[in-house]
Amino acid sequence: MDNAIELSNELREYIFESSEPVHPVLRRVIEQTQAMTERSMQVTPEQSIFLRAMVRLVKPQRILEIGTFTGLSSLVMASALPAGGRITCLDVSEEFTAIARQAWGEAGVADKIELILGPALETIVSLQGPYDMVFIDADKGNLQAYVEAVLPMLPSGGVVMVDNTLWRQLVVTDDPTPSTVTIQKFNAWLKDHPDFDVEMIGIADGLTLAIRR
Ligand SMILES: C[S@@+](CC[C@H](N)C(=O)[O-])C[C@H]1O[C@@H](n2cnc3c(N)ncnc32)[C@H](O)[C@@H]1O
Repeated sequence: MDNAIELSNELREYIFESSEPVHPVLRRVIEQTQAMTERSMQVTPEQSIFLRAMVRLVKPQRILEIGTFTGLSSLVMASALPAGGRITCLDVSEEFTAIARQAWGEAGVADKIELILGPALETIVSLQGPYDMVFIDADKGNLQAYVEAVLPMLPSGGVVMVDNTLWRQLVVTDDPTPSTVTIQKFNAWLKDHPDFDVEMIGIADGLTLAIRR
């Protein structure tokens, strides 16, 4: 295939310019986070546009985000929520999510977002649901556990989006490390799950959509 593209920063800027405008705070969160040592944890700019498109299409009343970090994905999804829509954000880090909280306030979406700090698997059992959309982007060893935990709260047509399912291209390596095997096993398990139609999207580090039947 010679028609796939590697995205330069210039192309990423062009993607922003060719899409609905993003709030200036969103650009600042990208710049601020990309100056941090943990920058690789942030969703990519083009992925944030894709997440916003998903919210526009699905029109979820309630989104659950597992793994918020400095807030880029929650900011962009909140910007596209239908009237009355809300996001529940789960993370363990007070430090990272302080950046997110500030950004939500400055972008005027703080009233749409509830942040719950603590290990997500423990938090999820206390949630009521339903959630029409779930974005899983936290510790990768728990991917299957997260899907199983949110399934009872997901109505038919609800979508679970799982990030990093191409695992920096290592899912096709001949000599997988234990973490790669974890992702490979998860991908195979999800694809065969009787409750989901599964589509893997080749964006950023791989984003799998599991749509509840
Ligand atoms: C890849 S980052 C999330 C990136 C974010 N979605 C964004 O838009 O930039 C992963 C986040 O998951 C959080 N995390 C890791 N393990 C967790 C756990 N067991 N429960 C909740 N959050 C966790 C980390 O603190 C980190 O902020």
